[in-house]
Amino acid sequence: MKGRYVMKIQGSVALVTGSNRGLGKALVSALLEAGAAKVYAAARDVSKVTSSDPRVVPLALDTSKPEQIAAAARAAGDVTLLINNAGVSTSANVLTASQGAMETDFRTNVFGTLAVVKGFLPVLERAPGGATIVNVLSLASLGSFPALGGYSASKAASYSITQALRPELRGKRIEILAAFPGPIDTDMVKDLPIPKTSPADVASAVLAGVARGEEDIFPDPMAQQMGALWSKSPKEYERAFASM
Ligand SMILES: NC(=O)c1ccc[n+]([C@@H]2O[C@H](COP(=O)([O-])OP(=O)(O)OC[C@H]3O[C@@H](n4cnc5c(N)ncnc54)[C@H](OP(=O)(O)O)[C@@H]3O)[C@@H](O)[C@H]2O)c1
Repeated sequence: MKGRYVMKIQGSVALVTGSNRGLGKALVSALLEAGAAKVYAAARDVSKVTSSDPRVVPLALDTSKPEQIAAAARAAGDVTLLINNAGVSTSANVLTASQGAMETDFRTNVFGTLAVVKGFLPVLERAPGGATIVNVLSLASLGSFPALGGYSASKAASYSITQALRPELRGKRIEILAAFPGPIDTDMVKDLPIPKTSPADVASAVLAGVARGEEDIFPDPMAQQMGALWSKSPKEYERAFASM
């Protein structure tokens, strides 16, 4: 931890992408609860941002649109905590998914996330005292869940980019953290009959990990269990996911 910047949520100015529903909406609530000074609630359709808290600033942002990223970075020039939450799961099985479906997942989960990081770098670099980025990845970043193989590939690529950015950004006093949730009870996996954690619990645990400065955040019981297995044996982790 020595020499590393650790974000205090209290008083921070946060931006959450994809904040109109699911985990993003829960992250906005958790940030307010934890004392954030301002939260930019970014969404493709800002009319779907419903919070009435005066600290919430709705912000139009489709992460696949470079001109919207540039406009958001101009409008939200005081961000100190950027949470890249927006994501899609379109492509399912790699043998049956169309290339277009896989490209959709990569467009948002990989290239959109990277483009938001790049667009906000000048903002984060001038944050007084330091800044933090959280990339919401997935347990599927660490080993493929074959039923969602295309999505897993996109989340693995986004993890690789997160690792690539880490040493680059640390020199600029920007920490980049990765969250690896297991299944969350949101629209994304509504058709999967598996145990899921509530978005509120995952959001609180992500912020707790940020406050501890954890590079790798495992924010729910399944994530902690699988994270421990991954640390011990990536091969056993792969086999466990393959048999689900
Ligand atoms: N649910 C899970 O089991 C699970 C597990 C691990 C990780 N995750 C990750 O958690 C994050 C949140 O997912 P969720 O479960 O909350 O899913 P969700 O309920 O489907 O919500 C996805 C959010 O991302 C937004 N989004 C999608 N593409 C976007 C784009 N190009 N630009 C801006 N916003 C975009 C959506 O906006 P619209 O309303 O406009 O579509 C929506 O707000 C994702 O990164 C996901 O991969 C989810």
